[in-house]
Amino acid sequence: RKQTTVLDVQNMYAKGDKITVLTAYDYPFARMMDQAGIDMILVGDSVGSVFSGYDTTLPVTMEEMIYHTKAVMRGSQGALVIADMPFLSYQVDVRDACLNAGRLVKDAGAHAVKLEGGENVADTIRAIVNMDIPVVAHIGLTPQSIHRMGGYRVQGRKEEQARQLIADAKAVAEAGAFAVVLEGIPADLAKEITESIDIPTIGIGAGVHCSGQVLVIHDILGLCEKYSPKFVKVYADLAPLIKEAMTSYIDEVRAGTFPGDEHSF
Ligand code: KIV
Ligand code: NA
Repeated sequence: RKQTTVLDVQNMYAKGDKITVLTAYDYPFARMMDQAGIDMILVGDSVGSVFSGYDTTLPVTMEEMIYHTKAVMRGSQGALVIADMPFLSYQVDVRDACLNAGRLVKDAGAHAVKLEGGENVADTIRAIVNMDIPVVAHIGLTPQSIHRMGGYRVQGRKEEQARQLIADAKAVAEAGAFAVVLEGIPADLAKEITESIDIPTIGIGAGVHCSGQVLVIHDILGLCEKYSPKFVKVYADLAPLIKEAMTSYIDEVRAGTFPGDEHSF
């Protein structure tokens, strides 16, 4: 498979082809989705929730993002890999943000970085893009803002919030982001935003009118049993199958029926 570049993504957008994105945090999942033909892989800071078991994404560190991004890079042969910038790696000042974005590219091998925010991070996006690191923005329900939002709730339902989100989308596009994730916003607003900017929108809980879609891999495989938000479609409910395999193994070891002759030297 040939390497997908930012240019390819821009060409897909120009042609009106939908852009497909999934998250990955490790080698095996990255390899499988790469072979399945995914356009972009996001090493999301959702790793904090779905891999590490934290309640929020706030505790995720640069070191963890680098570790997971490296594993994903080894599994990915053609997908464009975007690494999330974790909480506190870009909010304090632009110099920090540039150094941390640089680490995700230089130390981990990511092709692009993603950070949360709109008008408030436009200068930061511009500075990273000026270092020739492609940036994906992320607006709407931004999980790192959980304490401001007061929970993971749909954003932009009120007119004033909706206007702000349109301004945010325009600001990140103007700052040089090559795509923007729209998370947890009404489908009509996502459509309006998609039509008001000239970079692709990647939706998650933002309806069908976005230029592409992203979902968390553990969610579409039914591996997150805690709760499943409305926007998730479980394409394969694997947790029961995995547990069944585990119980079979436990039962067979206890019964002395594993290993058999065919597994023994
Ligand atoms: O961290 C993540 O997985 C994300 C996507 C849900 C957009 O940011
Ligand atoms: Na994220």
